[in-house]
Amino acid sequence: MMRRLAQLCLLTGALWAGLALAAADTPPGFALSSAHPDATAAGVEILEAGGNAFDAAVAVSAALAVVEPTGSGMGGGGFWLLHLADTGRQVMVDGREEAPSAATATLYQNDAGEVVPQLSRDGALAAAIPGQPAALVHLAKEYGRLPLARSLAPAIRLARDGFPVDGPLLARLAYRFQALAKSPAAARVFLPDGGLPAPDSLIRQPDLADMLERLAREGRDGFYTGEYARRLVDGVRAAGGIWRMEDLARYQVREREPITLELDGLRLVSASPPSSGGVVLSQVMQVLSLTEALSRPPVDRKHLVIEALRTAYRDRAAWLGDPDHVDMPITRLTSAEYAAEIAAEIDLEQARRSADLAPPQQLYADRPNTTHFSIIDAEGNRVAATLSINLSFGSAYMVPGTGILLNDEMDDFSAKPGVPNAYGLVGTQANAVGPGRRPLSSMTPTFVETGDRVAVLGTPGGSRIITMVLLGVLATLDGADAQTIVSAPRYHHQYLPDAVYYEPGAFTEAEQAELEARGFTLRSAGREYGNFHAVLWNTADHQLDAAADPRGIGTAAVRLAPAAESP
Ligand code: GLY
Repeated sequence: MMRRLAQLCLLTGALWAGLALAAADTPPGFALSSAHPDATAAGVEILEAGGNAFDAAVAVSAALAVVEPTGSGMGGGGFWLLHLADTGRQVMVDGREEAPSAATATLYQNDAGEVVPQLSRDGALAAAIPGQPAALVHLAKEYGRLPLARSLAPAIRLARDGFPVDGPLLARLAYRFQALAKSPAAARVFLPDGGLPAPDSLIRQPDLADMLERLAREGRDGFYTGEYARRLVDGVRAAGGIWRMEDLARYQVREREPITLELDGLRLVSASPPSSGGVVLSQVMQVLSLTEALSRPPVDRKHLVIEALRTAYRDRAAWLGDPDHVDMPITRLTSAEYAAEIAAEIDLEQARRSADLAPPQQLYADRPNTTHFSIIDAEGNRVAATLSINLSFGSAYMVPGTGILLNDEMDDFSAKPGVPNAYGLVGTQANAVGPGRRPLSSMTPTFVETGDRVAVLGTPGGSRIITMVLLGVLATLDGADAQTIVSAPRYHHQYLPDAVYYEPGAFTEAEQAELEARGFTLRSAGREYGNFHAVLWNTADHQLDAAADPRGIGTAAVRLAPAAESP
């Protein structure tokens, strides 16, 4: 007999009952985790110099732009989710890239109306107007305690003096070799003598150091107007791009209300559009609560997670885009009533089919990209920041004389309804290319607050970001420590393609057999993915815990304040 779950929707979802919101208190020190040891050290330096979490976020973001150019950069953008300890205010700083004013809905289609993927992935036409420089100035001015020049100092040092080539960087340079070789400025920095650099040789970026110094001196105008902006626009246009001076001049950071979900004592605070992350997480968590997923056997929990993701990613494709340009049914998508409708459709004996919900399957593509860091300072301020230039090294085009490696975030738009982007994600007019629009993102910087802990979570990983964060939220609710949260094997479903992708170890053999018997298509991802960073403040026992994903080379740091170290 079918085990329809409709009746469960009547239950109150007691799985998180008993959790009260985190008590007001201050942590015993500070903790952070990022994707590169030099970036973590930059954050530690700034916190030890008297900066707060927001100054440290500026330092870590800028340092990552230098030492992890595959993932994010001053030519890219991101979302910085902030918690201000003194007022309890939470805000998302939206430094997402924006389409240039000459962008049109068919920009990445040929005369026959076919999408030409390379156009939105490699080279200057793929680049949207960067948001990170404006966001760092905004963070320092509105929320920081130290001068911008102080917070940028570690990154400037790393850019000028150089940093040693590490394994992941070398692997990604090899992967993007052809595209980078076409950009003389990028090749000069990353491909000495036209080939791959030797392991541990130093990468120096003097133009980027100059740019950061200019930003410290002149603020946003040092990037978005004047002689430097002219250099950017001329370089982009000479390489086939469509930027105009006014596109840079009008770029503004936006402050957005995060998506917040309060559910049985859990408080989840996450990224709002133009990120899809918070909406997907909110919908999925409510479906999991209604179906009592956390208290079920592991295989049933996984079944429910996959089915909840299937619908949530369908809705992502159908509805979500730039909130300044698209009306989105966010209230409905994140409502308890809608979650109950979804829960009622799930059958614990049989997988549904995405084709019954919408159009044809396309192949999944995933490339290492993006970056994340998490910080809690000794006052209880928090930053969860996920930053990107999209695919590894973004567009792989460096504008001559600027030090700026441009993003290829235009590929996050839906180049044509129903045609998948590099992550296999489909979309509709809601996420069409258009002048001044911000492409829909999966970046999901997230805070989890329960009765006895606060977690600052996030990861890179394209369309898989949201499912990784979801699994991190569930692990947090299970009481896992930071190392377990970042290490746990992952699985993913994004509606189309209609398959569950998994890392080795995500399912036991018995679970795999059972899920296949229920009708799910399981495909090994073929490798590990993600680079998760978790910082936990256990308010009940006054402990800080932080961990960097063992899949990457990042590091975490916990420093106790002197008073907290005394018995
Ligand atoms: N560029 C990846 C994302 O924003 O989802």
